Amino acid sequence: MSVEPSAPDREPEEPVDQPVEIAAPAQGTGGISLEAERGAHLGPRDAVAAMHIRIPARGNRTLRDVMERINRDVSLKAWWHVANVNAVRRMRINDHSWVHIQVVTNVGLKLTRDLARKGAELGMVRDYGMRREDAEVVVVLGCLFHCVGMAVHRRGHEDWSLFMAADRLPGLLEGLYAEPERTIVIAEVLQTITAHRADGEPLSLEAGIVRVADALDMAKGRSRIPFSEGRVSIHSLSAAAIERVTITDGVERPILVEIEMNNSSGVYQVDGLLRKKLSGSGLENWIEVVARIEGESEKLLVPVVRL
Ligand SMILES: [Fe+2]
Repeated sequence: MSVEPSAPDREPEEPVDQPVEIAAPAQGTGGISLEAERGAHLGPRDAVAAMHIRIPARGNRTLRDVMERINRDVSLKAWWHVANVNAVRRMRINDHSWVHIQVVTNVGLKLTRDLARKGAELGMVRDYGMRREDAEVVVVLGCLFHCVGMAVHRRGHEDWSLFMAADRLPGLLEGLYAEPERTIVIAEVLQTITAHRADGEPLSLEAGIVRVADALDMAKGRSRIPFSEGRVSIHSLSAAAIERVTITDGVERPILVEIEMNNSSGVYQVDGLLRKKLSGSGLENWIEVVARIEGESEKLLVPVVRL
């Protein structure tokens, strides 16, 4: 399963245990994804009209209802557009477009289902006696709202995302959850948002999942490490080195994340960001990360990196 955008009229319903592959997007200028750059230069109405988040809701009716509301929410989509304008047009940093949101949401949902299937305890189930479906709703909403704060400013954007989400979530969940469950879902979503910051400390598996899912959207053009246009640095080199991230069942640990690099500078991306996001996430013992280099000559230099 690939999580690049596809035609707006299709609603994929893939089996849950298919591998997810995050491929490097088509490149625009300065190493930013073409899709993000295009979207940032569209007029607001066209930009919003192009957005449609697709996830495999499967038998989760609450999640299906949530996604119908999300895809009708022009105001939320406008936040994603402003976030992308700030990131791409104004700051020339990494992709914060709706495509990033779609990738992170699909990765988060896959990790949630895979971890549950492999026996991990989701916070919503273990601590509140709620359903696995509710944990999926928490993760998906956390992924959808985690960086709306970029529409305000990059500095402290995780915190701006909090008050923006807190304002919208009650209305979004109206009629889908009664109290006190609705407030529990909202509080848990807010935790996933604040826990994706650099020093975030996830207290639930769901919050750890959102934190790691965000970091896994690291293929070149959508790297999570910001870099400046035209400046060659370890940031820009390492970001451009990641070709593909694949998530599948593991052998040594339940989930295997394979990272394909085109040269050894990608090690910085894996070791500099992913390691930090994974450590303290609560997913360390569940996820095995293996990074490999494609080019023959550099294979001798860095045969394989394991986290
Ligand atoms: Fe993000």
